[in-house]
Amino acid sequence: MSKASLLQTFNTQLETLIKSKDIYGSRKFRLIPDSQGVYFRGRVGFRVARVKCNAGLDNERLVNVLTPSKIIQKVPWDCPRPPHARIDGRMVSIEAAWESDMQDTDVKLSDVINIKPGLTPLDGSRLFLGFTDARTAVTLHTKQFAHGIVGGNTNSGKSTLLRLIAYLFSLSNVADPKHPTTLIVLLDGKMGQGLGILNGLPGQVGPMAVTEEEWIAALQWLDKEVTRRYELALSSYMGKSLEFGTVDLPRIKVVADEFQNYTEDGRSAEITRLFNKLIVQGRAAGVEFWCGTHKLSLKMFGKPGNATRDAFDTNIGLRVPTATSSRLIRGDDLCTLLLGKGDTLMQALLPNGSMFDGRFQGAYIPEQVLVEYTRHPFLFDRWPTVDAPGREGSRGPRKMRYTPLQYAIAIESARLGFGRNRFRAMLEDQHVGISGNVPLDRLMDEGRLIHARLTGFDYCQTETGQCGACGGVFGDGEFCQYCGGPPA
Ligand SMILES: Nc1ncnc2c1ncn2[C@@H]1O[C@H](COP(=O)(O)OP(=O)(O)OP(=O)(O)O)[C@@H](O)[C@H]1O
Ligand SMILES: [Mg+2]
Repeated sequence: MSKASLLQTFNTQLETLIKSKDIYGSRKFRLIPDSQGVYFRGRVGFRVARVKCNAGLDNERLVNVLTPSKIIQKVPWDCPRPPHARIDGRMVSIEAAWESDMQDTDVKLSDVINIKPGLTPLDGSRLFLGFTDARTAVTLHTKQFAHGIVGGNTNSGKSTLLRLIAYLFSLSNVADPKHPTTLIVLLDGKMGQGLGILNGLPGQVGPMAVTEEEWIAALQWLDKEVTRRYELALSSYMGKSLEFGTVDLPRIKVVADEFQNYTEDGRSAEITRLFNKLIVQGRAAGVEFWCGTHKLSLKMFGKPGNATRDAFDTNIGLRVPTATSSRLIRGDDLCTLLLGKGDTLMQALLPNGSMFDGRFQGAYIPEQVLVEYTRHPFLFDRWPTVDAPGREGSRGPRKMRYTPLQYAIAIESARLGFGRNRFRAMLEDQHVGISGNVPLDRLMDEGRLIHARLTGFDYCQTETGQCGACGGVFGDGEFCQYCGGPPA
């Protein structure tokens, strides 16, 4: 039987189930039809069969009575995982996984986009990640700042996804590999098992870092580069034209697989320190992190409760074994329902400010394609231990009241909307605490102002009592007390 006719049978049997007294008890479910007058919508997904209906305010009751043991009686194939019902927007979604050999995991990147140069704008900021069951492509734009974290247990597809991401970032360098517009740093905590095949991407800064020493060397280079960028940007900021982080500088994408191997519980103190510091401070300097781990824990970034986890605005969950792991990636238990091999749930902030939160089948790149693609020399054959490149010719820093790291934390704290206490804690976390409220507040204000400029707001709005530029609260005067912005 075809999947479509199996789905049809499943659909019909579910309908009968929902209409049976055994299910509804004392009160029938009154289903609401969709705009085309249809009560049940079935879909043949890549990995699951899905039927949706809408019982309005009774949706929750419907989900509660549709237990896995009731649904499974109605599945006309050998379902490898317990089926389930859950609320999905306004609808109730009832899902049952296809038998393993009926599942479709074969979504190649070339099915999602045509990657011939010239056909798709490949500027290194678009990520084509896969297909939803409705066959729409899932695309992320990372031109705005984004850090991404990928969590999933073994065989869930983390490395496959990180390879795809690094490959897509590198495509903008293909036309002119000697002058990359996107620099790539590869870190692998599992001896190169995950990302090794990528070594030699166009735009790759140094060899893929594998050992602790190599990670430290790569992160130290990044640290210098970030500091240089802060100095450059802050000096232009002091000169009143702020184009922070990206002034003619290539963006840097760091792709790190199994990072927890070095950072969990602070196993390598130096890597943990640099990793945390760079994630928090990197985004404003055009440095973006995409990190994968099979071991989600509160201690994955060293110690519980630091601000590093909050810095990720793209959360990608693959199959995980426990509800606890799932909650660490997306706040609910849904990743435990995923089926592995690229079955993905992603929450991501889109450029228009809205959230994408959905399931899709991740695309992959066949290994042969990667092998042929990754033949480029590194920018350095070994990680430098001295200065970052491109230093010559920079205008040099002007005098700054605070260190670049303190500024970076102030900007990140402003982005996260932190108040004074959490800001202070964030500084102390990175060992650059400031004593005294006056200098602390001054730094916090400067951070808010720079953040406001960075995100492109220029004017204040007076009606709300809150500044549209920096989020500060208005003082008595007409102008914002933080950024001095004029009323709209
Ligand atoms: N998007 C995908 N489409 C099809 N197959 C996939 C996809 N992602 C992963 N797989 C398959 O699943 C297997 C495991 O993938 P991968 O190595 O990426 O997982 P992992 O989560 O990194 O595992 P580990 O923890 O062992 O490193 C591979 O055989 C791969 O071919
Ligand atoms: Mg892996």
